[in-house]
Amino acid sequence: MGTVDENLSVWTERWDWSSQGDEWSGWWGGTEAMWHAAVLPRVHAFIPAGTILEVGPGYGRWTQYLRAVCDRLILVDLAPNCIDACRRRFGDDGDIEYHVNDGRSLAMVDDASVDFAFSFDSLVHADLDTLASYVAQLADKLTADGVAFIHHSNAGAYRTSSKLARRMPARWAGRLMRRGLLIDLLAWRSPTVAAEQVRRLCEQAGLACVAQERLSWESGYYLTDAISTVARPGSRWDRGPASWTTRSFRAEARRTARLYARSSFPEPRS
Ligand SMILES: C[S@@+](CC[C@H](N)C(=O)[O-])C[C@H]1O[C@@H](n2cnc3c(N)ncnc32)[C@H](O)[C@@H]1O
Repeated sequence: MGTVDENLSVWTERWDWSSQGDEWSGWWGGTEAMWHAAVLPRVHAFIPAGTILEVGPGYGRWTQYLRAVCDRLILVDLAPNCIDACRRRFGDDGDIEYHVNDGRSLAMVDDASVDFAFSFDSLVHADLDTLASYVAQLADKLTADGVAFIHHSNAGAYRTSSKLARRMPARWAGRLMRRGLLIDLLAWRSPTVAAEQVRRLCEQAGLACVAQERLSWESGYYLTDAISTVARPGSRWDRGPASWTTRSFRAEARRTARLYARSSFPEPRS
């Protein structure tokens, strides 16, 4: 999983979208909980924003929040069914633009027009050549003080562990992966991408990777994911590079799920 063709096949033909992607928020206690506890604290400085570009919106799990904090929202996804679903969900009121792309191109976006580019839980499945293409184009698309928040794979930092996990008999591998004892290949992180490479892609594109968080995902220990925050050198977001790791993502999710369950005042059982 990682090429544009593989992504197209999974997200158009193989994935059951009947829960609109909300099934990926269950471990946080639901999509609202995940937005408020996992996503919003990481993007709050960048919103509200004039124009937001979202790459890989799926069926609109984060779009529903982004649309409320911008004047104009541009959605780009390689899967036509995802763009159709977003159009049905959010309507054609003129503030949202919908685009199906080839998995690489941002040609439909005007240069110097994007204040905030956002992609969460989508490009983790994309290979390095796809990220290279998007990062290079963001150099043209961002406004002078524009900023991009890109969630991508860091599985490429674990080549040996991944090789080991692939050789492990399937009957043990799944269990060990879910416990965080083996790198989680079931989460389909692209094996071609490591955080350091994305930092270099930014530099090659004339952008600065101003912050980079390496984080574990649902299965714990391995830092399979990364979020790169990207801006123009010398712009208001370029305050010197910062990088940190978060191994507690799963623990934060469990705590949030418990808190949301208690504070949502469920109906008493009859
Ligand atoms: C796991 S779904 C996540 C959707 C949404 N971000 C969410 O969190 O609910 C991955 C999405 O990314 C899209 N996608 C994957 N690779 C892409 C690419 N190279 N360019 C644009 N969209 C892509 C898929 O079509 C799908 O909509």
